[in-house]
Amino acid sequence: MGRTVFPATGWPIWLAVWLFVAVFLAGGVSAQAESAAPVRPAEPVLPRSEGPVLPRSEGPVLEVTIGERTVTFTRAALLARPDVVGVAIAWDVAYGIPMYYQAVPLLALLEGMTVSAGQVLEVQATDGFSATLRSDLVFGNAVQRSVPYLAIEPSDLPWPLLPEKTVSAGPFSIVWQNPEASDVRTEQWPYQVARITAVDGPDKRWPAIAVDAALPIGDPIRAGQAVFVVQCMACHTLNGAGTATKGPDLNQPMNPTEYLTETALRQLVRDPAALRSWPAMQMKPMPVSALSDHELDEVVVYLKHMAARRPAR
Ligand code: HEC
Repeated sequence: MGRTVFPATGWPIWLAVWLFVAVFLAGGVSAQAESAAPVRPAEPVLPRSEGPVLPRSEGPVLEVTIGERTVTFTRAALLARPDVVGVAIAWDVAYGIPMYYQAVPLLALLEGMTVSAGQVLEVQATDGFSATLRSDLVFGNAVQRSVPYLAIEPSDLPWPLLPEKTVSAGPFSIVWQNPEASDVRTEQWPYQVARITAVDGPDKRWPAIAVDAALPIGDPIRAGQAVFVVQCMACHTLNGAGTATKGPDLNQPMNPTEYLTETALRQLVRDPAALRSWPAMQMKPMPVSALSDHELDEVVVYLKHMAARRPAR
């Protein structure tokens, strides 16, 4: 322990040189580590950039616009509401497993806000997904009906990551109890929700998706349009109409029925990877439980019909 002072007499010069180099290297490395630290993001980079931007301390917010009125809810305020309940979801569409959430009944959240007849609720997510909920689905009062909740991800108890994703379904998602009762569709379980807005029904709002008015009521093409609005327009636009930005337009510049065989198109809807496969693909397989064979037929005839109804460019 006596040799704490350097250079002690008699030390070879190579040792002094080695020590100098070692100290220099260690200093260099640690300086590099320090300068690299602030560049590394504190959290994984989430595809949430389109969401409302607020100072970090205030956390995520949900914006609800009905009529002239916009109300903004912070996560903390939502979790502090007296009507927060624990809800067990038998089969959560986003996670593909049973889930348990802290949630506010959607009807309680929207209390006092009047949605006009003919309007629907559009639920927009930060990843470009945009769900359409008919108002009777949300406001219907049948005894046997599906009941929507706004699930809230507590900041101190984050939800699990979504399957094959690096993010959770939070901060807010719409989940349903008893989804079969009102035939709630798979694309009516929006997650990463940022905004709920009452808007005109699709026919009124988007003339560009309209079918030929001469088609008889009950024509499969009309039925196909209704399915398309809920199950496809959550991610796709058509003739530029729609608010989703997650997937491409399905009629401009070309309609898939113009370049895919019907078999390939059906296969793609059932399992997109059957057609093309790459790590970043976003479209999920749609099994028969999400879209029956009959409904898929209807969607295909609707798409074919719309290929002839593309606005001139
Ligand atoms: C969850 C979002 C989502 C839903 C719902 C969805 N799609 Fe897609 N779809 C995408 C995305 C994103 C792509 C682009 C490829 C990818 O990332 O998977 C795509 C690609 C496609 C393509 C291929 C376009 C091309 O030429 O490469 C077709 C056709 C298609 N979707 C049809 C449909 C139909 C029909 C429905 C409804 C039955 C539907 N999609 C529902 C997200 C979705």
